[in-house]
Amino acid sequence: MIRVFSNSEELSLAAAEAFCAIARDATAARGRCMVVLAGGSSPRRLYELLATQPYRNRVEWHCVEFFWGDERAVSPDHQDSNFRMAREILLERLAIPQRHIHRIQAERDDRDAAARDYQDEIARAFGVSASGTPPMFDVVLLGMGADGHTASLFPGTEAIAETQRWVVSHHVLALAVARTTMTPRILNAAYYVLFLVAGRDKAETLAQVLEGPRDPQRLPSQMIQPTSGALAWFVDRPAAANLKTAYSSEGQSRDPGR
Ligand code: 6PG
Repeated sequence: MIRVFSNSEELSLAAAEAFCAIARDATAARGRCMVVLAGGSSPRRLYELLATQPYRNRVEWHCVEFFWGDERAVSPDHQDSNFRMAREILLERLAIPQRHIHRIQAERDDRDAAARDYQDEIARAFGVSASGTPPMFDVVLLGMGADGHTASLFPGTEAIAETQRWVVSHHVLALAVARTTMTPRILNAAYYVLFLVAGRDKAETLAQVLEGPRDPQRLPSQMIQPTSGALAWFVDRPAAANLKTAYSSEGQSRDPGR
């Protein structure tokens, strides 16, 4: 489903509503809510909203556990750290206990070991085997870059084609940086994947991702197609500028049945 909002504030408010509903349902059904957070600027306002009323009181935060879809190769207190952003504007404000915060240790020298350890940590938190089928996160938040990447699945990188591992670390040539990222295999296992996309600079790419031919090597966001879960795109009007279909804020389904 695709929902288009008049501006990024409306988008963030709707995302906060959606998050609270997902968390309530997950907690009622499974006694907890396993969340994958996104980095980048798009989810910032959502995180701020969730930490303040009325949203703050709508979630049983002691039942929520936090993971990250990707991380930059920096220390956890670095200004570029996805963990730091979430810690400062969401986790600290909600006093989330350490045992429910599962960060990627992407600052380690051996990043491959850190990626493998993160897979083990996910498995432990869910009580499943790290060599089996990936567990189902209750909600995965994702952003999309103007080049079509999501999480740290960048165009033309091997991480896109990874079919076994849940987490990999790789060098992103285009940015000349190392990134650690969840793979499509585990992201697509989620109950609910929510993309947040805002800004005019995303318009051309978003139209290609949603309405263009399938080309995931060039547009990795197209890899995100939950196996049995739901997929929602929350988009602001500037980002939706090049879409051929006129979507409302109520949302229309591209895929009947979803
Ligand atoms: C990151 C991300 C990344 C991000 C997109 C969109 O670590 O940067 O997780 O995938 O979501 O690049 O970023 P913006 O929201 O800043 O446009």
